[in-house]
Amino acid sequence: MKNDAKFQMPSLKEAKLRRNLNIETIRYKTNNKYQNIGYGKTYSIFTYGCQGNEADSEIMAGILEDIGYTKSADPYDANLILLNTCCIRENAEQRIWGVLGQLKGKKREKKDMLVGICGCMPQEESATKKIIESYDVDIIFGTHNRHHLPELIYNAYNSNGKVVEVISSEGNIVEDTPKVRESKHKAWVNIMFGCDEFCTYCIVPYTRGRERSRNKDDIINEVKELVKEGYKEVTLLGQNVNAYGKDLGIDYTFGDLLYDLDKTGIERIRYTTSHPRDLDLKTMEAMRDCKSVMPHLHLPVQSGDNQILKIMNRKYTYEEYVSKINKLKELVPNISITTDIIVGFPNETEEQFQNTLKLVDEVKFEGAFTFIYSPREGTPAAKMPDSISMEEKHDRLNRLIEKTNAGYLEGHKRFVGKKVKVLVDGVSKNGSDMMCGYSENLKLTHFKSTDQSLIGKIVEVEVTEAKTWFMIGNLVND
Ligand code: 5AD
Ligand code: SF4
Repeated sequence: MKNDAKFQMPSLKEAKLRRNLNIETIRYKTNNKYQNIGYGKTYSIFTYGCQGNEADSEIMAGILEDIGYTKSADPYDANLILLNTCCIRENAEQRIWGVLGQLKGKKREKKDMLVGICGCMPQEESATKKIIESYDVDIIFGTHNRHHLPELIYNAYNSNGKVVEVISSEGNIVEDTPKVRESKHKAWVNIMFGCDEFCTYCIVPYTRGRERSRNKDDIINEVKELVKEGYKEVTLLGQNVNAYGKDLGIDYTFGDLLYDLDKTGIERIRYTTSHPRDLDLKTMEAMRDCKSVMPHLHLPVQSGDNQILKIMNRKYTYEEYVSKINKLKELVPNISITTDIIVGFPNETEEQFQNTLKLVDEVKFEGAFTFIYSPREGTPAAKMPDSISMEEKHDRLNRLIEKTNAGYLEGHKRFVGKKVKVLVDGVSKNGSDMMCGYSENLKLTHFKSTDQSLIGKIVEVEVTEAKTWFMIGNLVND
């Protein structure tokens, strides 16, 4: 590495220490020095991973347009290409190595192209080392540095080395960043950052840092602003939204936030992701009482076996999970529950896996993201010896998917013959005479119409058919 304008490497060990206790809220302002550095230039952002990354990309697009960049029509032919990455599982990373390989050739053709890599992957020491050694990347920055983007670009233009800035301890909360939102009727709203759970398989507490909650007034004002702009739906984001407010030392929880946001006039509120241990009664009551809080909960269970849950450091049992779900179903009878499940955790026995299948039957999930356990360097589980073959893990995954797919179908079937309210997203991929959107229970719903003026509106659809991945119905005319 030569002539580095800025060089700060990540460290998983440092991230674990949770040193920075003085989290402040700072207000973003464009620095005059960087005001027009993107003038006449184009950008594109490739986003991988979770909704948190999608929300971050909208902020980075906002920052780039604020300093003069415009979005490139061809994403591979931009003056600045950013890859906003995910490292939660090995295969997420594999995809990004592939894209970086592809961009090598593009960069050779277009000499003034800058390539930046950001998000979770650069927070891993080993990934950052590999990027520096093997790929032609100009800017490498982590999840805590995205608001420094103008300075990083400036430094990249004014140096002939790589610009690396990945801090391991979390940064401040940055408010008032510009945003270019992808949708005109649905918006992501971050309510907190980071995760303090330290599930033993998970890299997120290291890449995203300690839990930091945004001030409630900043969140409420953002939602009020979105209502004024005509937005219909917000999805509140955090790695563990149920821990909202804990770090602020105030007597105000996620449930309180739901009640307050319900008063803003936003028509639909969703949230993700929840942790079963922290899901409290107040939140469940808010789901019952607030008309805008949608009847869907994504509650990752990960495993149905108490021993595995313990080794995963999930801090709840099968019985506690089921009892929370039962309470929720009692308060919100119409609710749809979805989940995340990992199979093949180190040494998981067939019997332990059977407990997961039993739980899936008992809870009747209407959807699940299912994964084979993937060891992540630096996490405790990665050091656990594992006697289960990959073949066995794939077999378990297939058996699980068969069950969870049936759950998707059952979840759709229960709406056949009923009317559901759908927020229309656009023309459906199923055929140009169909449109689609999501129902209150987060069911993808297609209906016959070519009326594009319906996009962004909430319409009523009578469901006629249930498929595994979606429902079909007819528009109900008033
Ligand atoms: N291997 C497999 N799946 C994982 N997840 C998180 N870490 C891993 C891992 N190392 C899954 C969990 C989590 C979801 C976002 O990703 O199920 O809820
Ligand atoms: Fe990872 Fe567990 Fe935090 Fe979710 S709660 S981000 S699985 S450590």
